[in-house]
Amino acid sequence: MDLAQLTRDLDALSTSTRAAVEAAPDVAALAALELEILGKKGRLTEILRGIGSLPVEERPQVGAVANVVRRSIEQVLAERHAALSGSELEARLLAERVDVTTPGRPVRRGALHPSIEAMGEIAEIFGRFGFVVHETPEIEDDLTNFQLLNIPPDHPARDLWDTLYLDVPGRLLRTHTSPGQIRVMQSTKPPIRVLLPGRCFRYEAIDASHGSEFFQVEGLMVDEGTTLGDMRGLLDEFAHAMFGAGKKTRFRPGYYPFTEPSVAFDVECLVCGGVGCPACGRTGWMTILGAGMVHPVVLRNCGLDPERYQGFAFGMGPERISMLKHRINDLRLFLEDDLRFLEQFR
Ligand code: PHE
Repeated sequence: MDLAQLTRDLDALSTSTRAAVEAAPDVAALAALELEILGKKGRLTEILRGIGSLPVEERPQVGAVANVVRRSIEQVLAERHAALSGSELEARLLAERVDVTTPGRPVRRGALHPSIEAMGEIAEIFGRFGFVVHETPEIEDDLTNFQLLNIPPDHPARDLWDTLYLDVPGRLLRTHTSPGQIRVMQSTKPPIRVLLPGRCFRYEAIDASHGSEFFQVEGLMVDEGTTLGDMRGLLDEFAHAMFGAGKKTRFRPGYYPFTEPSVAFDVECLVCGGVGCPACGRTGWMTILGAGMVHPVVLRNCGLDPERYQGFAFGMGPERISMLKHRINDLRLFLEDDLRFLEQFR
């Protein structure tokens, strides 16, 4: 190997590389080419291995030529790279172009389940009177679901609630939201204005008006000097907001162990307007909730002095409210999750 030969080889490499770079179709081909020429085991390195066989004084000359060749190759590579990546970007932009004028896919409109919708409406109406929503457990103990509500273990009123008991002794699925009253009165000092919505469970034969799982919304107000008249006024406001201004209402005597006196609260039949029809059993009235003045025993069970504090409580089924409002005749529809039913509430 002599100096002239090495210089010729370098020149030849420079020329052939230039041609190859110009012909490279894309960035990937260019990268392969770069490795092949300038890489550690590339052709430039291979040529320069010949330097070792030159006399010492000639070596710097070859080194200088080699550097020039390397730099010029690097430059053409860089120029070609810039050109190729520019047109590749253009090609991609073209291929992946988004037509922003295409009409969008319609989003299907959802709706709240009618039970939830009714609870929201109930909460909104009582919210206007300062009632705040509070939730208590679905798994209750016998003490809170029954005993503190003035329903001792062998009390015949237990028959009003067919209970689902858990394997854990003393634990059950709450049969109503009334144990929430106990929990609130145990933990909060009056004045109390609270709304307790939640799921309840009963061991029931299921039919058009009975389910084993349903919602209730409980209301509780406790303060000094709270009267039955306050409750009547509040429930009238509720009935008018929910079913229409001017609707007639009435109290009927009722019975619950934890209220005294107890009442059923009726609103005039929404179908016949009070004349009497099959929908209201020809009475002209529809019962929307049970209520009463909190029994002194219950107040005392919660550490409240009945001489100082009085209260009222009411409990209603949002499904029933929804059924009356929307003229739905079967409670089971609320649990079946049949879209043909649910989609009617959009
Ligand atoms: N807890 C009663 C029921 O399940 C309803 C109710 C609540 C009655 C509050 C009076 C006061 O039927």
